[in-house]
Amino acid sequence: MNNITKKITLAAVTLTLVVNLFFLFRTKADDKVETPGSMQMDVINTPMMRDDQIILRLANNHRPDYPTSRACDYFAELVEERTDGRIKILNYHSAQLGDEKATVGQVMYGGIDLARVSTALLTDFDSELIALQMPYLYEDTDHMWRVLNSEIGDSFLTGMDKMGVEGLCWYDAGARNFYASSPITCLEDLQGMKIRVQESAFMVDLISALGAVPVEMSFAKVEMALKQGEVDGAENNFSSYISTRNYLHAKYLALDEHIRIPEVIIMNKEVLENLDEADQEIIRQAAKDSSKKQKELWDECEEQNRNIVEAAGNEICQISDKEAFIERVQPLYQKYGGDYQEILDQIEQMKSDEMKNQS
Ligand code: GCU
Repeated sequence: MNNITKKITLAAVTLTLVVNLFFLFRTKADDKVETPGSMQMDVINTPMMRDDQIILRLANNHRPDYPTSRACDYFAELVEERTDGRIKILNYHSAQLGDEKATVGQVMYGGIDLARVSTALLTDFDSELIALQMPYLYEDTDHMWRVLNSEIGDSFLTGMDKMGVEGLCWYDAGARNFYASSPITCLEDLQGMKIRVQESAFMVDLISALGAVPVEMSFAKVEMALKQGEVDGAENNFSSYISTRNYLHAKYLALDEHIRIPEVIIMNKEVLENLDEADQEIIRQAAKDSSKKQKELWDECEEQNRNIVEAAGNEICQISDKEAFIERVQPLYQKYGGDYQEILDQIEQMKSDEMKNQS
């Protein structure tokens, strides 16, 4: 290569480098969107910044005084404390960021950073989670927690990456019961009743298997639907039956405990992984610590629930034929159970010895 060719090659390489650097920096600068005040937000899934502080938004559809919301507040406090204020989680309770199903979608695509949700709302995106919420699966809350705190629970949290999220920790949501404007004491009472269900194909199947007519609806709309007779009843845990004021409109509660649906805090995976590794660990650990707190708050709340319902003059119905309910949901084990038989067997093995001997 003569000198002139060398100079031309060098000039071409330098020019390419300069052009590439120009586009690289221009793209970075263009990714920033100025928002009112001193807020600055990245378009791609990186956290919002306010001055030097990282701001994360967490969606939750419960009232601020609900035990689960208080645990989310505790989680936010721990993160702020352990990062010396560098990371702030803003909790939006009472479905301020949209109904639960919409917030799941938002976290998956990064519009919202975190959400506390019922796993029933995730099964349409990750059907494996059905294995953790099959009807009459757990003998009691301790059994469920043995599962959630085991490798099974951990693998479900990390397995949520197929939705673009990381499951940070589990929360308790007790057992769900039916309630209606007329008594439910046996399976016959439930036949043909219009029952509100969460927006989940699996929940629709469950309620249909029990002979009721499922009506999918978001959580916030249930009170009005009961009041206006759009549905005859609904199903939820004791604490939500009260916090939503559903107990004022559906005076009969049947303690059939047909399902326990674990709850989870999910975080957009890219947003999490764009943080320093040390900060990622702080967030993961704070979520785990808030899970213990949530369980305590949950148990305290559950203790008071029966008194509130009884003081309101509601009737707590005992189910005369729980075995008939269990029998009716068996086709769901055939439909969904097959794919997850191994996990279901492991969950069965985690029952207390006394229960295992009986079954
Ligand atoms: C429970 C759960 C909520 C859910 C609700 C529902 O209250 O905690 O996350 O939205 O049930 O039935 O929709």
